[in-house]
Amino acid sequence: MSRKKITVVGAGNVGATTAQRLAEKDFCDVVLVDIVEGMPQGKALDLMQSGPVYGYDSKVIGTNGYEESTDSDIVVITSGLPRKPGMSRDDLLKVNAGIVKDVTLKAIAKSPGAMLIVVSNPLDAMTYVACKHSKLPAHKVMGMAGILDSARFRCFIAMELGVSVQDITAFVLGGHGDTMVPSTKYTTVAGIPVEDLIPKAKLDAIVERTRKGGGEIVALLKTGSAYYAPSAAAVQMCESILLDKKMILPCAVLSQGKYDGCDGLFVGLPAKLGEGGVEEVVKFKLSADESAALKQSAGAVKELCEAVDRLGF
Ligand code: LAC
Repeated sequence: MSRKKITVVGAGNVGATTAQRLAEKDFCDVVLVDIVEGMPQGKALDLMQSGPVYGYDSKVIGTNGYEESTDSDIVVITSGLPRKPGMSRDDLLKVNAGIVKDVTLKAIAKSPGAMLIVVSNPLDAMTYVACKHSKLPAHKVMGMAGILDSARFRCFIAMELGVSVQDITAFVLGGHGDTMVPSTKYTTVAGIPVEDLIPKAKLDAIVERTRKGGGEIVALLKTGSAYYAPSAAAVQMCESILLDKKMILPCAVLSQGKYDGCDGLFVGLPAKLGEGGVEEVVKFKLSADESAALKQSAGAVKELCEAVDRLGF
């Protein structure tokens, strides 16, 4: 039996860290693609040489083309520019749409049976671009953002309460931008509703910090954006698919008939990920406020997708 194969396009911080985390998981081989000559090859070799010490047998191949990516099970697209301080994710639309279109076409030409996980920003619109140009059925295309945003929310709640992050379940829904919707109704601490444990004003502040979580890191780093948590989130999606774990994870998936105002859009919703890709978009009964906020967030995503179409991508 041959090992599963995941191609990671883009060998910058997010892509290279995704490749590292995948190699360390030891459940697939990894192909790392980037246009910069020598860079993916060098990082791949370095990762291969970590195997004897770390204890994994994953093969990691670095390349400037797509030949080695042939017949991948999953392609993770991380290519594109990251934000600079003061920029919104939406400011990246034009340049990243062209890049995501180009790499989608090249990757899918070699792996027509692959699933696509998009990580490039602005996330929801780039997932739309990838779906449009790959011509894959929507259940095979998804974007990574909800797990990241939920992880930030979980982390801040754990810090506030002084408890294990593992005790916290949370769902951040909607677009991966300023309008994202951290659902406090479905956030629990060892099963206890978070609304019973953290006073409203404090919880509101945590929600706000979560919404601005990516920008907080961009402002600190000054060059580039977050990559440890984004790569961890992308790898969790790969794991749920390749190992058919059927985890329910918030991801940018095509909404069809379950959430008000979201239909026809790729937007962050709870999704069951397994060997079939997005096996189900799971319906939660949101509070009236959350439902209205999700609708508003979907509206912001829709505007970006319309801009994508207008620009011809
Ligand atoms: C973030 C960027 C990667 O949220 O969108 O950190």
